[in-house]
Formats: sequence, structure tokens, C-alpha cells
Amino acid sequence: MTMHRVIQLKECDRVWINVNLATFDPALSDPYGSIHRCALGIHNGKIARIESMASVTATRLPFDVTDGHNGWLTPGLIDCHTHLIFGGHRAQEFELRLKGVPYEQIAAQGGGILATARATRVRSKEQLIKSALPRLKALTAEGVTLVEIKSGYGLNLVDEIKMLEVARELNNRHTVKVINTLLVASALPPEFAGRTDEYVDMICQKLIPEVAEKKLAAAVDIHCENAAFTMAHRARIFQSAIDHGLPTKCHTEQFSESGGASLAAHMNALSCDHLQHITEQSIADMAESGSIAVLLPGSYYFMRCQTPPPVERLRQYQIPIALATDTNPGTSPLASIRLMMNMGCIFFQLTPAEALAGVTINAARALGVSDQYGSLEEGKAADFCLWDIDHPNELAYQLGHCPLQQRIIDGQIVDTNQ
Ligand code: NIG
Ligand code: FE
Repeated sequence: MTMHRVIQLKECDRVWINVNLATFDPALSDPYGSIHRCALGIHNGKIARIESMASVTATRLPFDVTDGHNGWLTPGLIDCHTHLIFGGHRAQEFELRLKGVPYEQIAAQGGGILATARATRVRSKEQLIKSALPRLKALTAEGVTLVEIKSGYGLNLVDEIKMLEVARELNNRHTVKVINTLLVASALPPEFAGRTDEYVDMICQKLIPEVAEKKLAAAVDIHCENAAFTMAHRARIFQSAIDHGLPTKCHTEQFSESGGASLAAHMNALSCDHLQHITEQSIADMAESGSIAVLLPGSYYFMRCQTPPPVERLRQYQIPIALATDTNPGTSPLASIRLMMNMGCIFFQLTPAEALAGVTINAARALGVSDQYGSLEEGKAADFCLWDIDHPNELAYQLGHCPLQQRIIDGQIVDTNQ
């Protein structure tokens, strides 16, 4: 047990008064972890004190006070699965798909991920930063304070590293925290055609070691959907990530049942993402290993999928459910975390409380950072949002205007337009 001195409101750097909290503190039984009419103080970038307004008097407050006028504070929103960095776009493929050409056929003809890889390889870091920034700003304008960004459109050593360096640069330049993930095995690049084994050697012997060495990613996401790779290939990659001290995640069971979730669970993966076709056995395996389910309603919608993930079974097995945008040029060109909350309710029958938990505490769990982020608790990072709403269910309910009033990162109020 860590012993820390109780900090009084007066000693805080700033206090928000007259606020209601959706804390997502697991110790509270209400699904939002609600605390009504209270004051929240921050000190040294951390949440230092939460107190009922009943005991707050002017003499007990520090100089810097923000009156929340009975609005709500939530943890800063977390988008835990994005492909935010890429060259070009694929609007022409969108048109083809609308005419009935399947995604797989477009990919087999050199479109899809390979088209984006070509466009990403030829772009400079500065060009990639410039094109990613508007997408990042769209997320932060809705209250996102922490975003995961995957590589995966380089498909070779140099360009995967380039993508991860771009993600790191976005972290430095923008008022949002970025967690990098190395994404591998989503496609076989043409220069390795017919040589999958050698490509997997490159991933395991060069790419993962270099990324680990340079500390360029916090995890490795092993794509378990592309038929160019076998389960044995994927298992080798999981093992390489583990050997290099990197936690794992996976894309799996999106378009068909692959068994990737069971493999990932046996490898103690942080999360398994998509899961529309997951079996009950794989769900049991995930429950056993403590892997988080990350559901991605954007790609479900954009790809006109018909089989939603088995949410009721995930609940039965008490697997925490996270929600994310999956922002990418092919299957989810949708940089809106609140749209995902809404679609999570409409398509997957999540409750508004589950949707908000999915982009706060459970998203933090999916990234392995719930000790610092994802809930409003004393001692955690002071990353939160102030909303002009009567109830937090509104955040999943209405779209088109955003009731965000303030976004706070490390205790600093940052411009909501940044
Ligand atoms: O890497 N979640 C899926 N993301 C994709 C991107 C797909 C695409 O660019 O078409 C992936 O598999
Ligand atoms: Fe994805």
C-alpha cells in the first residue's frame, strides 16, 4: 500500500468546483462511478483531492478556481486503436466498393493496405505529420487526451521506423499524449512476394529488436487476419515481441474466425481488437489471460459488416470492453471518438455508460496504462474534460455539436481547438 499525505484543497494548484464526476473508479458501484456536486483539486499534474461541495468554503480554496456550474468532469477520452498516420487517401476505392467491388478484390489487385503503403513510403516525415494533424485535432476537439497510433503502412524497416518517429513527433508538437504501437503482418509487401518466411525473419530479427532498442513503441500489434501469414508465423512474432520486452495486441476475428484471439490470449496479450467472429472458447481464453476486448464500430459500419461482436458473451465472461475509432484510410476513415460511442450503442447494444467506460478506463486498460489514466482518482494523472451536460449519457447520445468546455492535460487547461 502506498502511503501519501492527504493534500488539502487549499494546497492544490487549481480546483474545479460545482462539478459532478463520472470517475469510473472501480470501487464505486454506479456504472459511471458518479460523484455529485463536488470539488476536484489538482497538484503537480495529478488529481490530488476530491471532496463534496458540502464541505467547501471560500477560505478553503486556493487562488485558481474554475466554477464548473454543475457540469460534468470525465476522464480525458482515450482512443486506444488508430492508424492515424498514412500517406494519401483511398476515396477512389470507396467509390469502387460502392459499385460492388469487394475489399479483398481491391487488395488482391494491389490496392488496399499496399496502396497506402506505397503512398506512405514516398512521403517525408514532415508530409506525414502535416496530413495526420487534422485527424488528430478532430479527436482532441472531442475531448481525447491520449491516443494510440499504430505503424503498419511502412511494411519495411526504414518506413515502419519513420512512421513511429512521426507518431513521436506528433506527441511533441500537439497537446495530446501519444502511445506508439508497432503494427506488423497486416500485409506482405511485394518485394517479399513468395518469401513470407524471410519477411517474418525480418520482423523478428530486425524490426522488433530495433524498435525495442530505440524505445519507439510501447507494444507490438500482430495482425491475425491476412492470409499471407500462418498461425505459426504469428506465434513467432508474438514470441519475438515478448522476448524483447514488448507487450502484445492483435487485430483478429474481424472478417472471419481465425483463432488469433486464442493465440493472443495464450501469449498474454494486452488486448484483442475487432472480435466480430470470436468463438466462446476464445472468449474464455481471453478471460483467463485478462486480455481486453477492443471493439471498433467504425470499420464495422464502413465495411457494412453484418455480424456484431458477441457483446453479451463478453459481459458474461466479465471481459472489459474498450471502444476506439480505428481511424484508417481503408476501413474506417472516421476520426470521431464520439461517433464510435454512439455506434457502439446502436450497432453493438452497449449502454451509454459502457460506451464511456470504453473510451476511458477500459481504453486505458487496453493500453496497459490504467494505473495512471482512464479514471478520476486521487493520484492519477490530471487528464480530464469538463462538459456542459446534464448527464454523461449525453456523450453517446447526440452528435454534431460537442459540449466540451475544457480539456485538461497534466493539470493544464489546453485549448479545446488544439
Ligand atoms: O491494418 N483495423 C484495421 N486496420 C487496417 C487498415 C486497413 C486498411 O488500410 O485498409 C489494417 O488491417
Ligand atoms: Fe486497425
